[in-house]
This record gives sequence, C-alpha cells and structure tokens, in this order.
Amino acid sequence: MSKKIDQVLFSEKVIADKVEELGKRITSEYSKDDQIIVIGVLKGANIFLGDLVRKIDLPLSIDFMAVSSYGNSTTSSGIVRILKDLDLEIEGKHILIIEDIVDTGLTLKYLTENLKSRNVASLKICTLLDKPLRRKCDLHIDYVGFEIPDAFIVGYGIDYAEKFRNLPYIATIKE
Ligand code: PRP
Ligand code: MN
Ligand code: MG
Repeated sequence: MSKKIDQVLFSEKVIADKVEELGKRITSEYSKDDQIIVIGVLKGANIFLGDLVRKIDLPLSIDFMAVSSYGNSTTSSGIVRILKDLDLEIEGKHILIIEDIVDTGLTLKYLTENLKSRNVASLKICTLLDKPLRRKCDLHIDYVGFEIPDAFIVGYGIDYAEKFRNLPYIATIKE
C-alpha cells in the first residue's frame, strides 16, 4: 500500500515566513543573558529546528532527544520510550522544546514532565503544527506555527513510514 502526495497545505515560502515570525517572537521573549538550550525531538523536529534556530538572535545551545510513540503506524500508541537522552546538563537552564507536530500531546506530556523534574529554570514548547482536535491530554504550548485539522500530513521533517521527511513543503497524502 503506497501513499502519494495529495494537496500542499503549506508551501516552502509559507513555512519560511512562519519560521521567521516564530524566531522573532522567541528572540523577543528571552534575554541575551538566559542560558537557553533548544531541544529537538528526533526525528521529525530536525528540519524545523535547523531553520528556526537560524532565526533566533540569541546565544543558545542545541541538543536532541529521540523518543518513540508511533513506530510505523499512523495512530498513537500512547507509549513513549526514550531512545536517546540529552547530552547536555539542563539543570538551571531555560529549555525550549521544538516539535514538528503535536497530535495527541502524549509525547510532549511525557517529555515535559521528565525534563521539568531535572530542575530547569524554565520550559517552553514550540511546535510548527498543532492538531488540537486530536489532543488526549492537557498540554500548554507556548509557540504554535499553524493549527491544522485531523488529516494525515507529511513533509518538512514529518514522515509516513519514514518517507517524505525531505519534502520542502507540507502536504496531505492519499492511497
Ligand atoms: C511524531 C511527531 C511528534 C509526535 C506527536 O513523531 O514528530 O514527535 O509524533 O504525536 P503525539 O502528540 O500524539 O505524541 P513520531 O513518533 O512519529 O517520530 P518521528 O518524529 O521520528 O517521526
Ligand atoms: Mn516526532
Ligand atoms: Mg513519525
């Protein structure tokens, strides 16, 4: 069963404009003296993070975590496993978690609880896409690029069965 691109939801240009806007907002809401660690959630957030950090005009460090919630299926299992933990020490640091998409919210619910227990100075979440209709838990998101309906989408880091991450735009897929 192979999937094909259906409709483009957000073009490369529309994404770039939004990334710039988010970068400016983030720049204005922290101080140059804050010790900021931007944490990308692998693998989906990789491309968004790479573009976003170049629009944040503040000193910061970058780290990654890898967690698994979906495997190769399109539905959430609700089970979150840490596959790769942080390299950096985050105690006393200002943490900004970067996600490509928040769906049920279970991945970030787990991650934020986990990171908050490490005595961070602050913790905020930035996601490019949000599917609020799919939420299964209470989660506060500080920066949202676009709210989207409950359609299966790919591109700009987001996969279907590990494919389509390299598309420069975000699109829906069909059979
Ligand atoms: C996707 C997406 C988010 C998470 C959101 O990652 O990138 O990390 O699911 O789902 P949730 O809000 O229902 O928890 P996935 O687990 O597919 O891994 P990937 O980033 O490696 O594709
Ligand atoms: Mn992910
Ligand atoms: Mg995935």
